[in-house]
Formats: sequence, C-alpha cells, structure tokens
Amino acid sequence: MKKISINSGTESIELAYRDEGEGTTVIFLHAFPLSQRMWDSQIKALSASHRVLTFDWRGFGESNLGAGNSSMETFADDLAELLKALEIEQVVLCGLSMGGYAALAFYRKYSAKVSGLILADTKAGADTEEARRSRYEMAEQARQKGSSAIAELMIPKLLGLSTQQNNAQIAEEVKAIIANNAAEAIAAAQEGMAQRKDSNDLLAEISCPTLIIAGSEDTLTPPSEAETMGSRIRSAEVKIIDKAGHLSNLEQPEIFNQLVLKFLSRF
Ligand code: MLT
Repeated sequence: MKKISINSGTESIELAYRDEGEGTTVIFLHAFPLSQRMWDSQIKALSASHRVLTFDWRGFGESNLGAGNSSMETFADDLAELLKALEIEQVVLCGLSMGGYAALAFYRKYSAKVSGLILADTKAGADTEEARRSRYEMAEQARQKGSSAIAELMIPKLLGLSTQQNNAQIAEEVKAIIANNAAEAIAAAQEGMAQRKDSNDLLAEISCPTLIIAGSEDTLTPPSEAETMGSRIRSAEVKIIDKAGHLSNLEQPEIFNQLVLKFLSRF
C-alpha cells in the first residue's frame, strides 16, 4: 500500500492507495463502511491489461480522516487531488454504492476528467427523512459501540441471501474489513451520505459511456434503482448479476470482472 499527501480544502491529508498495471486507467471507489480491500479481486484480474487504482476514502482503511467533513463533495475533491498528484488526466470511474454517490458528485464537478463511468449497486436519489434519521442513529452507534458492532449490523444488508447461505468466508472477510475501520470515519461518512444531493438531475447530462451493475439480491439499492438510472443516462447499459447482493464485486467477482473488462475494451 502506498501513501500520498493531498491538499483538500484547507487541510493536507494522507491517502492510502494502490496503483498497478498499465493501460487505460480505471479507479475503483469503495462502499460504506468498507475499504479499498474490497477491490482485491478486481486489482488482480484487471491489472494485467489496465492501470488499476484503488484508495481508501478519508478516514477509512489506512487513510487519515482529517478535520474536514466527509461529504460526497469532499470525497470528490479528494479524488480530484489524488488524480492531480498522480498526474492522471482522465479515468474510468467505478463506484459501488457510496462509491457511486461519490462518483456522481465527482462527475458533477469534474466531468472532463471522466472518460467512462461504472455505477455498481448504487442509486441517484437523496435520502428520505427516515433514512437520514437512521444514518444519524448509526453514526452515534458507531461512536458509542465501535466498528465491530457496525460490522455485525451491516452484514445482512450488504450480502445477498445466496452468499449468506453458501459463503460464510465472504461474510468473515467483510466483517474484518469493517472492523478494521475507525469508528469516527464510519460516523462521518454516514453524516456525509445523509447530506448528499439528489443526483437525478445530473443523469441526463452524463455523456460518457456508462455501465450500470446491480446484484439481483441487492436489497439496499435494488435492481429497480439500476434500471431507473439506466433509463435516464444516455448510452448506459444495465447488467444484473444473479446470486449477488449489494457487494456484487465480492459476491460474484468473475462475472463482475468480465462485465468491467468488456466495458473497458471500449476505451
Ligand atoms: C454502501 O454500501 O456504500 C452503503 O450501504 C450505502 C448507503 O448506506 O446508502
């Protein structure tokens, strides 16, 4: 894992990242409340033919939290600074769930830097009042009980039924990734997601090739969300992965990687 200092807003923070392979650059944006470790199998499968980057959002994994908030706009600015520091002009962005919210925030501000977009297990809408309330409750819970308690709570939501019934190892891996995160980073990101903008207005403006992926058993951002986004983005294709829940890249890595590789062959 490499570390790089970036200037974001009024502060300087250190982000942990991986940068492997050569070719068209694709950067993977991780979900809440995981870390870049969720992309291990994508790094392995894609770096033979592409330049693949992953990094930990501020506060997660091995990145500093900093003093700023963890809004999707802050995440987008951090990503822009990371690309600047690495002298990368344009990328294919692949964001899963919270990574997708941040990818949309990035596109709103930095569309010229995006050559292609992969939106996995995510949605464009903002939260309802009720969803917002439960995010603030979880933020408090994270602060009081720690990240392992959040891991226990999240597993049934993150993984599809097929995975929960047939692949206990994935559940253990995801729990370990979550438990390794600082509770304050989890709380800050929940607050950041609660404040996120509705991105539905942006969808009609997206002009780059776009791939939308959803797990058929995703209950957090169900396939209907993927279909809705797909109908609003010009030149988007929607692919549903069978027997996968919210973490479709971890639950069905081979199919996920095949879809991404086919999409990347267009660049
Ligand atoms: C995620 O997987 O990033 C989160 O579950 C997204 C969310 O809470 O809306």
